[in-house]
Amino acid sequence: MMNTLIPSSVRIVEVGPRDGLQNEKQAIDIATRVQLVNMLGAAGLKSIEAGSFVNPAWVPQMAGSEEVFTQIKRDDKVRYVALVPNLKGFERAISVTANEVAIFGAASEAFSKKNINCSIEESLDRFKPVMDAAKERGIPVRGYVSCVISCPYEGEIAPQKVAQVSERLLAMGCYEVSLGDTVGTGTPAGVNRMLEAVLSVIPAEKLGVHFHDTYGQALANIYASLQMGIAVVDSSIAGLGGCPYAKGAAGNVATEDLVYMLNGLGIQHGVDLNKLIAAGQFISDKLGRQSGSKVAIATNNQ
Ligand code: HMG
Ligand code: MG
Repeated sequence: MMNTLIPSSVRIVEVGPRDGLQNEKQAIDIATRVQLVNMLGAAGLKSIEAGSFVNPAWVPQMAGSEEVFTQIKRDDKVRYVALVPNLKGFERAISVTANEVAIFGAASEAFSKKNINCSIEESLDRFKPVMDAAKERGIPVRGYVSCVISCPYEGEIAPQKVAQVSERLLAMGCYEVSLGDTVGTGTPAGVNRMLEAVLSVIPAEKLGVHFHDTYGQALANIYASLQMGIAVVDSSIAGLGGCPYAKGAAGNVATEDLVYMLNGLGIQHGVDLNKLIAAGQFISDKLGRQSGSKVAIATNNQ
């Protein structure tokens, strides 16, 4: 018997064009980034993080996100999301009509400092003007909390800290918080402990999960999260990704692998697996390497 908390449908947030491509060593041209986003939308994904508006000196791979947003073929059913660290980033995103923005904080002081050059408290202060501007324009804001399991600089992170930062982001007006295992060290037991703490103060409807697959635990961690009632899952086409400020972190769970697992569980998601595999093939060919999705590799070998 399946656990009754397991949701009947899941919203997938595709982060490949941002989390995936931000971590690539090679430069990726705008046309490729645009075509990838278009193919992901055509596969049925409804939330696509199409780029970020951070300081390009910090993450050069995301320079030119304005052009990406301007050139994509918009589909009314898709929300094109922009990652923004501050008001400057928000204004850049709005100038090219991002439908939604995502701000990003952390449960670790050291990671906050390395990734966005300020303390957790200072980051929340920086987000306030973004929240005000977004409210004024009716733009939904998603909040990320990084390092929900461990931090590359501090080690293990207390679940209570994750709960506190998540609560603060929601209180500021984020409609949802995505809990990020940035380093990808988590296992289902640790994810259970972390989610128990967060769910004691926040309802499951306001949470998403974001697992990097460094230790091969992402699908198991997602399954553990589904069992606790989480119905929003971030993933990255072809398993691309990582964070330049979390050295050694691998990509997110591959969207193809997530969709295959959801199919097996009979959970609705609205995505066409074959079209998704084609999108993954497209970007893997452009990057000149094999896909990070086991499902894509297995399908192509049939
Ligand atoms: P800072 O140096 O403290 O910023 O960086 P500042 O406000 O002092 O400004 C310094 C310079 O940056 C100024 O330029 C600003 O104009 C410029 P100057 O006057 O020296 O010529 N600047 C900007 N330029 C363009 N767009 C902007 C912007 N803001 C300032 N938005 C800052 C602070 C946050 C900007 C910097 O640390 C930064 O850009 N960090 C981004 C790091 C990043 O993108 N990391 C990866 C994404 S997070 C992630 O992957 C985790 C996630 O996937 C979840 C998970 O896995 O856990 C989300
Ligand atoms: Mg990430």
